[in-house]
Amino acid sequence: MSKPILSKPWGGRFTAPTNEFVEQFTQSVSYDQRLAHYDIMGSIAHVRMLAKVGVIAEKESLQIIDGLQSIADEINVGQFSWSTELEDVHMNIETALVSKIGDVGKKLHTGRSRNDQVATDIRLYCRDEIDAVIEAIQFVLSALATLAEEHADAIMPGFTHLQSAQPVTFGHHLLAWAEMLLRDRARLQDCRKRMNILPLGSAALAGTSYPIDREFVAEQLEFDGVTSNSLDSVSDRDFAIELTSALSLIMMHLSRFSEELIIWMSQASGFIDIGDAWCTGSSIMPQKKNPDIPELVRGKTARVYGDLMALLTLMKAQPLAYNRDNQEDKETLFDAIDTVKACLQAYVGMIPTITLKKERLYQAAASGYATATDLADYLVKTGLPFRDAHEAVGKIVQYAIQQDKALDELSLDELQRFSNVINNDVFSVLTLEGSVAARNHIGGTAPEQVKAAIQKLQKSIKEGF
Ligand code: ARG
Repeated sequence: MSKPILSKPWGGRFTAPTNEFVEQFTQSVSYDQRLAHYDIMGSIAHVRMLAKVGVIAEKESLQIIDGLQSIADEINVGQFSWSTELEDVHMNIETALVSKIGDVGKKLHTGRSRNDQVATDIRLYCRDEIDAVIEAIQFVLSALATLAEEHADAIMPGFTHLQSAQPVTFGHHLLAWAEMLLRDRARLQDCRKRMNILPLGSAALAGTSYPIDREFVAEQLEFDGVTSNSLDSVSDRDFAIELTSALSLIMMHLSRFSEELIIWMSQASGFIDIGDAWCTGSSIMPQKKNPDIPELVRGKTARVYGDLMALLTLMKAQPLAYNRDNQEDKETLFDAIDTVKACLQAYVGMIPTITLKKERLYQAAASGYATATDLADYLVKTGLPFRDAHEAVGKIVQYAIQQDKALDELSLDELQRFSNVINNDVFSVLTLEGSVAARNHIGGTAPEQVKAAIQKLQKSIKEGF
């Protein structure tokens, strides 16, 4: 057999060396080498299967596995030399195997293609990364639970339209964030289930003529089953899009938290402080201490959304089955995963450094007529229809604003000018403490409920679902 002009595994039918630009343009090894560990795992499972069904000899499989393991070691210690000429992680490893163990290494690729190989690698990679993101979410949840516990009854203004609405407890507010992250965790777990199916065995697109045992490979790689259609298996990237979509939602949530932290730390609000180690300064204004961590998290949300858009757009016009377009899935997917992990890590570190300016929060709640609804409810309890109560209290608020007084600073006499059913007991409902304590039902802001919700959250963190 004459030697091929190209030293590439696919070189046989080519008569000219690859153009240098093309080599650079088509390579993915500079970034997909991140999948090496999963590529080797998949290859080992594949080779065990080939020996089991008798396509290669047991002895050959052991030699190949040995070779792959020593390549894994080289990669781990940074001694493996990656070559652009060999395009991607798959061909780099396969070529290294052949040069390490000789011709028997050439049997590794029997009954598979890089198309089902890469689809397998990415699923394995995503599966691990999902576990890592879930773990990071758990840490953020714990940090939130701890802070919420500390401030279960600290009163702050609750907002709608960013206008003071009704008093809430800081613990309750923090637990709203926790709810979002609990849904994020569930979404990742759900996406992991759907992702955990083995595409290997689909080969290039049509399956393979060897008597392969896909279930055996799936078992070794801890997949829950095998995919059902070879064409779909090699081309499907739904799982990556689903994951990036779940990651985008995480970022949307973190970005919302960030926005609030930034507002709360502003001089205008003065509700919280973030520890010095988690803030940065200004090169010109010596007094500055900026909430750059939440700002960057808010900013990085944009790139994760961009990653999601890139993946959706990547897939929208692809005919079946595999197309090289799919190589473009990796950098965006990696970027989304890396970004989310870093942002969650930032939150894990930053949350415990948040300190509350309790008095300021209390004063803000006290000065925004936040107990007006409580006053209306008080009137309703004496038999007034809610709409009439609403109107009466509206007038009381208007009067209080003119007098530059808070509601509980009005005298009984003043209040009675607007409604003769008001009695001395009204003052207990006008206090902030009374207002929050009254909302004592599941999902309400009463400190008692917040404490119960923290217990529930702690349990859910422990159980992991
Ligand atoms: N590097 C490729 C990718 O990431 C691997 C599959 C290439 N397959 C092919 N037939 N060119 O998608």
